[in-house]
Amino acid sequence: MRAHADRCRANGLTTALVPTMGGVHAGHLALAKKARRLADHVTVSIFVNPTQFAPDEDLERYPRDLDADVDKLGTFGGVDLVFAPFALYGEGAAAQKVWVDSGELTTHLCGPHRLGHFRGVATVVTKLFALCRPDVAVFGLKDAQQFFLVKKLSDDLLFGVRIVGVDTVRERDGLALSSRNVYLSFEERAQAVVLSRSVEAARRAILKGERSPGRVVAAMRRELERSALARVQYAEVVSTDTLAPIEAIVPGRQVLAAVAVFFSATRLIDNAIVRAPRP
Ligand code: PAF
Repeated sequence: MRAHADRCRANGLTTALVPTMGGVHAGHLALAKKARRLADHVTVSIFVNPTQFAPDEDLERYPRDLDADVDKLGTFGGVDLVFAPFALYGEGAAAQKVWVDSGELTTHLCGPHRLGHFRGVATVVTKLFALCRPDVAVFGLKDAQQFFLVKKLSDDLLFGVRIVGVDTVRERDGLALSSRNVYLSFEERAQAVVLSRSVEAARRAILKGERSPGRVVAAMRRELERSALARVQYAEVVSTDTLAPIEAIVPGRQVLAAVAVFFSATRLIDNAIVRAPRP
């Protein structure tokens, strides 16, 4: 992979990387489409990264169908290379001695609920950057905390990789596309619409001038409570700079309204990134 990346560079091609864990859906294709516009050569990586799953999470049942993924990316047509390493941890994750600490950006939102998750993400993204040496890397904004973390990782660790975010692709009723949606029962799928309604309620309130994070969170929770099957893990409004809760929503500043909800064992997330209007 590294030799290929070096050859691209030697031939004067700019390169884009779209890191994925497979289970390719229209959301991933939107990332590839964006990458196609940003660089001469597009690589999609597919690697189900074991170190970002906690022991009680869905590593074993995570969708894996490399042939189907490659078919979908091939049919889409905008991808030059699929990089699907069998392993990225040498003798196994247990033998790994050096990790990338995800730092302060992960003390809120998903961080405390998914211990070790962002350390795994930061470490694997570092490995992918080291191998693929992209000029630009494209990530979905559905995983907003991951997006802001990777942006800071690229700056703070001096990778110089431009990190570009792509808006969440949604089903007709608003449900954000996710590889995990396949786990939902018929009823859960119908009720999962509350996530997007909840973050849209936050967006509406902030755009209407609401300045109290507490009242925005209350509006988000009201939408989530419409589902009898939803078990809310968090509903928060944080600063997009620090990813920490804020005292007040300040006109002109951007905030992230985010939710995480369980339907049985399936954990779904959604968010809205909103700039508070100036009066
Ligand atoms: O967003 C994902 O699919 C994963 O977290 C990523 C960025 C590919 C790292 O494993």
